[in-house]
Amino acid sequence: MGKEKIILTGDRPTGRLHIGHYVGSLKRRVELQNSGLYDKTFIFIADAQALTDNIENPEKVRQNVIEVALDYMAVGLDPMKSTIFIQSQIPELCELTFYYMDLVTVSRLQRNPTVKTEIQMRNFETSIPVGFFTYPISQAADITAFKGKLVPVGEDQLPLLEQCREIVHKFNNIYGETLVEPEAYLSKLPRIKGLDGNEKMGKSLGNAIFLADEPEVIQKKIMGAVTDPEKIKIDDPANPDICMVYYYHKLIGNENLETVCKECKAGKRGCVACKKELINKMLEFLKPIAEKRKYYEEHPEKVEQILKEGSQKAKKVAEKTIKEVKTSMKINYFD
Ligand code: TRP
Ligand code: SF4
Repeated sequence: MGKEKIILTGDRPTGRLHIGHYVGSLKRRVELQNSGLYDKTFIFIADAQALTDNIENPEKVRQNVIEVALDYMAVGLDPMKSTIFIQSQIPELCELTFYYMDLVTVSRLQRNPTVKTEIQMRNFETSIPVGFFTYPISQAADITAFKGKLVPVGEDQLPLLEQCREIVHKFNNIYGETLVEPEAYLSKLPRIKGLDGNEKMGKSLGNAIFLADEPEVIQKKIMGAVTDPEKIKIDDPANPDICMVYYYHKLIGNENLETVCKECKAGKRGCVACKKELINKMLEFLKPIAEKRKYYEEHPEKVEQILKEGSQKAKKVAEKTIKEVKTSMKINYFD
């Protein structure tokens, strides 16, 4: 038990994935998947978790399950190497959540910093849905059902991982070694900024380039990106370090980065030309992703099959864990 190196992570389907998600985490996941260093990889779409604060928008969640699945396929997550599935299709996760609820106090949940911030962000203070309040417990079920050991997540998820570890600890203490304690696999990359210079690239902030954006849309967005405001004339020297165009040249690994920097500082580069160069590089960077996405958009039946088979496979694994859990808890009456 616990000897297998299992990677597990998930995303809430609340919007399409953008280039910040790609550079900050998806790319790394694909590398982990392809590294051959891990025994199994589970990647799932957390639709049940998304519903905890979107209960009135089932259509939005459903649509985004498909969008996220397409993004997964587009960036190179591979159903031959990773089990890709939909959270709600694994009822065992609810069962586990129910038992884990006995191991967590209300005050512990209230102290969870991520939950705290999210409650404020959603103005839930006076009317927190119980399901939302307890999603850290359900997230612990997600992780432990598949014996996830390494969980690639962003920093905002650390309190959830900590809570999961506490649950595992308590469970194993009371019922005997059963569950595997997970570790966060933190992305070392900083948070990706938006085209407007905002510290965060966000779905709702209107400052993101989505993996599914059409070339014309990307062009328009980059033409509107924030540059050094002091640069007025084409030959004014400027500071690339405060320019989002430069930031993105760097982010996607433009091999002429030094030239861009030098020319900008020397006033030898106009912002329009600089943006046009970025547009070309960006389209080139996203081309393989866009092509793959298009292929799967045109073959929705393939996406459906991948998700269906992945969910069936995942269910088998979760069933096995539930059996072990029930045995440990002495509620395996008819075995
Ligand atoms: N909370 C994660 C997010 O906001 C999604 C998620 C659900 C998750 N269950 C998980 C991530 C288990 C890692 C492990 O995107
Ligand atoms: Fe930014 Fe390029 Fe203009 Fe310099 S020349 S401010 S790097 S857009």
